Amino acid sequence: MEFRLLPGGAITGEVRVPGDKSISHRAVMLGALAQGATRVSGFLEGEDALATVAAFRAMGVTIDGPHDGELLIHGVGLHGLQAPSAPLDLGNSGTSIRLLAGLLAGQSFDSVLTGDVSLRARPMARVMQPLAAMGAAIRAAEGERPPLQVRGGRTLRGIHYDLPMASAQVKSCVLLAGLYSRGRTSVTEPAPTRDHTERMLRGFGYDVACADGAISLAGGGALRAIDIHVPADISSAAFFLVAATIAPDSELLLTHVGVNPTRTGIITLLRLMGADITLRNQREVGGEPVADILVRHAPLRGIDIPREQVPLAIDEFPVLFIAAACATGRTVLRGAAELRVKESDRIAAMAAGLTALGVSNEVLEDGIIIDGGAMGGGTIDTCHDHRIAMSFAIAALRAEDEIRIVDCDHVATSFPGFDALARGLGLQISTLAD
Ligand code: S3P
Repeated sequence: MEFRLLPGGAITGEVRVPGDKSISHRAVMLGALAQGATRVSGFLEGEDALATVAAFRAMGVTIDGPHDGELLIHGVGLHGLQAPSAPLDLGNSGTSIRLLAGLLAGQSFDSVLTGDVSLRARPMARVMQPLAAMGAAIRAAEGERPPLQVRGGRTLRGIHYDLPMASAQVKSCVLLAGLYSRGRTSVTEPAPTRDHTERMLRGFGYDVACADGAISLAGGGALRAIDIHVPADISSAAFFLVAATIAPDSELLLTHVGVNPTRTGIITLLRLMGADITLRNQREVGGEPVADILVRHAPLRGIDIPREQVPLAIDEFPVLFIAAACATGRTVLRGAAELRVKESDRIAAMAAGLTALGVSNEVLEDGIIIDGGAMGGGTIDTCHDHRIAMSFAIAALRAEDEIRIVDCDHVATSFPGFDALARGLGLQISTLAD
């Protein structure tokens, strides 16, 4: 599928973007392992979260839906999963494979985890190392990439693990293996990362301690089913936060957006650049902070991105680079090497696209320097990455000519219906089948 965008336009209206991807994955995982039925509303019906649903169905869990974002998960308890009869295909989803590696390391049965061409290129040593220290037996393909062969029947023991990189997936993997381990499992992180696993485990009645910077739990407990209301994904809202900011005459209300402080780096950074963003009606829904976000067009200036914001905005950098291209002056990002191991090498993919549109930039090993200025049209290669596709679609609002984006099928992993929703708000986007 290909996106074609005419230049210009304004973004106006009110919209609720699809459900949070991270929370949707965890709702399925924890709901499946709970005792009783977990009802989920606002579930993201994107390919990544559906891959997690399919994986648990393949392990004997009955899941009704999704219908209009509603799921009913009939939990089997921590020890109720059954051996899958085939490898579990997790598509494009790094969250699914890394969290499941931890969960499956503690099962009585063997399993194999694999995915698409992008996932099979992603590093798994980061989860294999701590899991090995816990007593797990996992084999990977060359270069410690998927497929992962997870041996069952191992006795896991709790460890203390200092995460070498700020990664919520690695943190969550270790904590989920800890549910099946003897004794306590604890982790420290070099910088705070999204804390949905900790919050949701507590929501399901599991005791998770947080003291002296360490997050810890003891194995051998139980999860109790709950109702989960998934807020709109701030990572999807981010495309429209930038869109309404950069396009003159824009005013947009994004409703019911999750504003967990471990996820709001994009708001902090856009405000530092001069954006006009107001949070309204702040409330807490099911243990997660939620707000309506009003954004109006505003001129932006380039900034030096504070390093502590990097993990808090990790998925939003592709679209933030578009904001930087529309700002006056220079934006500098460092300390973001993690961007190189996402669904694509996001520094390289964004730099190539910006260069194609005539935006001056310099690639750094762990970041990028972008000089704001005029943007032309051109053709963009998404490198199989949903967020690269959506970011350059937003760029069209300030481009001087048509933008063509090839290889956009992956947008459905996190944001099904992006093109129709964006069109309704004022983006001049059309879709062409291959
Ligand atoms: C996620 C964690 C982040 C993020 C990903 C979702 C999660 O990955 O990029 O989209 O749900 O835990 P890392 O933990 O690799 O930074």
